[in-house]
Amino acid sequence: MADLSARCGPLALRNPFLLASGIWGESGESLAGAWAAGAGGVVTKSIGSAPRFGYANPTIETYERWGMLNAMGLPNPGIDEYPKEIEIARRAGATVIGSIFGGDADEFARLGARMASTGVVALELNLSCPHAEGFGTEVGSDPKDVEAIVRRVVESSRLPVIAKLTPNTSDPVALALAAERGGASAVSAINTVRGLAIDVRLRRPVLAHGLGGLSGAAIKPVGLACVWQIYEKVSIPVIGVGGIMTADDALEYVMAGARAVEVGTAVAFEGIAVFGRLVRELGERLDALGFSELEDAVGVAHSAPSASSG
Ligand SMILES: Cc1cc2nc3c(=O)[nH]c(=O)nc-3n(C[C@H](O)[C@H](O)[C@H](O)COP(=O)(O)O)c2cc1C
Repeated sequence: MADLSARCGPLALRNPFLLASGIWGESGESLAGAWAAGAGGVVTKSIGSAPRFGYANPTIETYERWGMLNAMGLPNPGIDEYPKEIEIARRAGATVIGSIFGGDADEFARLGARMASTGVVALELNLSCPHAEGFGTEVGSDPKDVEAIVRRVVESSRLPVIAKLTPNTSDPVALALAAERGGASAVSAINTVRGLAIDVRLRRPVLAHGLGGLSGAAIKPVGLACVWQIYEKVSIPVIGVGGIMTADDALEYVMAGARAVEVGTAVAFEGIAVFGRLVRELGERLDALGFSELEDAVGVAHSAPSASSG
């Protein structure tokens, strides 16, 4: 069976499939469950300085098969309460990446230092939630802000920092280059794609917040395009996220340049058993395609000869 271990800069993973932030990862038990089910690592829910309840319901609209629109509003217990959940996951042996969100570089730096003291192996900076006022995309759309935030967190935490980037921009490469200049060890792309659903009977948006973020199969081409473009211009590793439901989806990301991937909506639809299935299917697929290691497939689509039109 092909070797599925993934090296993502300083991070060594038993396989490339990480639990994406915000899905299934609220409690220590759920993080530990995803690890036990076979995930290569788990990313926590994004944690902020203070507890937040998030938006009123409805917060999620589900589209059968192709995705989900959500505006949760970053509900979380806050950094003072959360470390005990990380401890539970770590005691279960999980490789835990701590996701944080803040309103500016100072807040990110404080949160980064606190999160680093919990024993997580890396920090993921949520610079990309599309629907939280004052956070996410609002602080992660300008390369200058991204560079400043990443630099401050790197200085304050001394842990590998992963900058999670938004697809809701005309230039994802500029954001990735800014993260690299700031000292990020990797970038993850993408967070959800801004979206809207209208209830025509009620004549109003379906989600209480109005705008939301689209995830799932529908956004895979968007994520792939971002990873593809970033890989061509940026030297730090890229983690692919968005619409991964099958091993072939993950392999597309790897061939576009990703060294690891995150899985979100597929976990919401299928439960954590998805990790065991993805690991098994990816091993079989790599064997069938003649790859002895996952690493050998990274970025190969960039060097493929273009198809002849003749
Ligand atoms: C319900 C829900 C909650 C999410 N919460 C977070 C979050 O707290 N922090 C974050 O960085 N991304 C969050 N995301 C984005 C996911 O981590 C991921 O980037 C996105 O859903 C695309 O991957 P997918 O198509 O596999 O779901 C959330 C997504 C969903 C659907």
